[in-house]
Amino acid sequence: MTQVSDAPARTRAQIAERTLRKDRWWQAPIVVVTLLTIWLAYATVRVFTGHWYYVPDYHYLTPFYSPCVSGECVPGASSLGTWIPAVPPIIPYAFVSLVFVLGFRLTCYYYRRAYYRSFWQSPPSCAVREPHATYTGETRFPLIMQNLHRYFFYVVILISLLNTWDVTQAFRGKDGNFGFGLGSLIMLANVVLLWAYTLSCHSCRHITGGRLKHFSKHPVRYWAWTKISWLNARHMQLAWTTLGTLMLTDLYVMLVASGAISDLRFFN
Ligand code: FES
Repeated sequence: MTQVSDAPARTRAQIAERTLRKDRWWQAPIVVVTLLTIWLAYATVRVFTGHWYYVPDYHYLTPFYSPCVSGECVPGASSLGTWIPAVPPIIPYAFVSLVFVLGFRLTCYYYRRAYYRSFWQSPPSCAVREPHATYTGETRFPLIMQNLHRYFFYVVILISLLNTWDVTQAFRGKDGNFGFGLGSLIMLANVVLLWAYTLSCHSCRHITGGRLKHFSKHPVRYWAWTKISWLNARHMQLAWTTLGTLMLTDLYVMLVASGAISDLRFFN
């Protein structure tokens, strides 16, 4: 008769080393910290600069200033009108959208993974011990606020529509008729990728296909769910790509608006 052994103890293995991994597991957290720090530093400087965010001749508005609602916004930059006469210098001109865009990215499931691992080292990588003694997950303030992600998603859909409107305006020449230049194409590529990132959101996938018992009874939602699932599998790549295109779009608008370069015009 087979002897039944005792169940293993419910404690972690007592290993003195932080990890037994021999590969370069530390590379990914370092790269993430470096890239996110560079991006945040650039974006912070730009949203508080208050200059070179709009090209009046070609109607290019950087997404960092959309919608420009301060009375100090240059003429033509305020697609939704100006809501207040002026804002103090510590408040960005597009404060009504930036708080939601930032909240959306901060609570994004992918970015959470990225900054928990890299900045907070919780844990820095699989099978690598974290430096923290306790773990409460996202059950308490402030991390319980991560559950607001779905609501940020709803608002960001509206902001994406506004970004799309900005792109339509960028396809006009000096005379107001149809025309486009390199800036128009950069803004267009940026907004297409922003839509792809937004629609690839895990919350969006759940909204379209979650809580259904029978896909066969909901063919439209099933169709949408399969498309969004395809995008969702590329969510990490879209998260990084859109950080790059946002920065590139803003940089191009800044260079043209400041007169450092001229827009390369293809038509009108
Ligand atoms: S999970 Fe990343 S944007 Fe929603």
